Amino acid sequence: MPERTPYIAANWKMHKTVAEAAEFVDALLPRIAATQCDVVVCPPFTALAEVVERRRGTAVRVAAQNMHEEESGAYTGEVSAPMLVELDVEAVVLGHSERRQHFGETDEALARKLPAALAADLEPILCVGESEAARDAGETEEVLERQLQTDLGGLDSAQISRVVIAYEPIWAIGTGRTATPEQAQEVCAFIRDVLRMRGAAADEIRILYGGSMKPGNAAELLALPDVDGGLIGGAGLDPEDFAAIVDAAG
Ligand code: PGA
Repeated sequence: MPERTPYIAANWKMHKTVAEAAEFVDALLPRIAATQCDVVVCPPFTALAEVVERRRGTAVRVAAQNMHEEESGAYTGEVSAPMLVELDVEAVVLGHSERRQHFGETDEALARKLPAALAADLEPILCVGESEAARDAGETEEVLERQLQTDLGGLDSAQISRVVIAYEPIWAIGTGRTATPEQAQEVCAFIRDVLRMRGAAADEIRILYGGSMKPGNAAELLALPDVDGGLIGGAGLDPEDFAAIVDAAG
């Protein structure tokens, strides 16, 4: 089985001014200088350029938190893939549950955004996850399969192999409740099976867990066979906590 390089991403959401972002990067870099992991920071749009410049020459990569599928047009408030690439942004989070919940992000829109990101050479980090009600109703796999099939619907198997998937159970995001290692492993293995059935190089795709990952629980989650990294919200705002999670990934 191919070795998958651990992938640890800090999703800042709507946090940090440009000055605060600069401070974070300066504090983070010396703490992760020796890591072999893929380390990714996802600042708000306004801080992307600053983070890109500060991390130049280091292993830290930069992702946006959303993008529009068109290259340009009358879409007030939106940002396109070529605009991100011009800044030397390398990746983009797509389909985060907060965008699905609060901003009407649909699976159909994601099916257009994923090919647009790949065409621009941005690495998509596609977020999927079930609500608490879906889990209680025993519909976790059904929900995830539907999300994956629709969101990845515009991609061929080679393109799917270039996507990073983040499994984020909605009930675990920002709540302090983490999926148990059994739950995280079970779902991430299921996601890999779905990707394999789509003909993708499933053993090479990084599948992340997200939802209240912290220095105290990261090692256990990151040691799971099908969990290849983390998408970290709260603990990704603090350089020390984030570096501790990168450390735990090995
Ligand atoms: P959390 O957020 O780590 O604060 O739960 C994770 C995420 O939303 O990506």
